[in-house]
Amino acid sequence: MVREISIEDISLLNTLIERYASHKKEDGVTSDTVKKQMQSGLEKETHLLLTEENSEGVAQGFLVINLKSDRLPILFANWEIEIEKRLLDYAFEKLSGTCSHISFESGYPTPWLTDELSSYAVTLGFVKHDRAFMQLQPIDKEVLTECAKSEGLEFAPFDEPMVEEISKLVFKCVDNTIDQDLFPYVYGSIQKIEEFLGEFLRGSFGTHEPLYSWVLRENNQNIGACFLVTRDETGFLVHVVIDPDFRERGFGNALLCHSLNSLLRVTSSVDKIELAVTSSNPAKRMYDSLGFRTLNDSSTLVWKR
Ligand SMILES: CC(C)(COP(=O)(O)OP(=O)(O)OC[C@H]1O[C@@H](n2cnc3c(N)ncnc32)[C@H](O)[C@@H]1OP(=O)(O)O)[C@@H](O)C(=O)NCCC(=O)NCCS
Repeated sequence: MVREISIEDISLLNTLIERYASHKKEDGVTSDTVKKQMQSGLEKETHLLLTEENSEGVAQGFLVINLKSDRLPILFANWEIEIEKRLLDYAFEKLSGTCSHISFESGYPTPWLTDELSSYAVTLGFVKHDRAFMQLQPIDKEVLTECAKSEGLEFAPFDEPMVEEISKLVFKCVDNTIDQDLFPYVYGSIQKIEEFLGEFLRGSFGTHEPLYSWVLRENNQNIGACFLVTRDETGFLVHVVIDPDFRERGFGNALLCHSLNSLLRVTSSVDKIELAVTSSNPAKRMYDSLGFRTLNDSSTLVWKR
């Protein structure tokens, strides 16, 4: 039977957490980091932890619920589909009465969430959206320099004092898009975007340095923004947006290439750029034409009231 677990009982999950962490070790995840994150979430009451035990009281699986975003960031039950289903059922029943949105990811970066569980989620009313994880390697600096050329464009480095005005621009760019549907806890309102960009500048999604992220201006109006971080030798595109009134005129390409060039000038160690994009997003064509290749397909499963 599934039950909610308190902070004192986390040690019951030791073996499972170790097994989970061993599958994530390439991403730098250790059982200690997982436990610390769980403990901090439970202390702040932003997270809920579920487990199912066998008749000897040994934990068979666990599910973390993020109560702030209504996301299920970790579901691990050693690929035991019946236990996975029961954990998901419990979370669904608990959240669907009060929430308007529940989501979790399958495939990369969580390959232990099987197609079988995704299909089961669909029977509960979740909708599956395909996502592509893309990489640019090797980086052809000449191509980027050529693409960044655009007469009369004005670029300004993105920094803290711009968060408020740029959040408004981002909201205009993502309002009523699939990405807003998939990530309402990030793009659902101007205030949520402000929080997200604040976290972004504080390094929550990777290292952010001055001159990594840029705003595109025309006649003193902000018309686009591009947000980049680094994670060791990898540059990561967090987001790029162009005002809907200025699209399909080459601005997206120019802004992205300008920002990538700048990042490569600031950090000599970056040897590849990565990003994740919803497969149906026209932005994927922009990445394809710049030479990004799809490394992994994944899905985000979203339930909406
Ligand atoms: C993605 C986005 C930034 C593109 O900006 P843009 O200024 O319109 O892009 P560009 O005019 O520079 O076009 C870049 C390439 O994408 C293609 N493209 C852009 N929008 C397209 C569309 N709606 N349909 C088909 N192709 C499109 C262009 O044809 C161009 O291809 P090419 O280089 O082979 O000629 C913009 O559409 C946007 O802000 N979307 C909402 C936010 C978003 O989803 N961002 C990406 C998150 S991963």
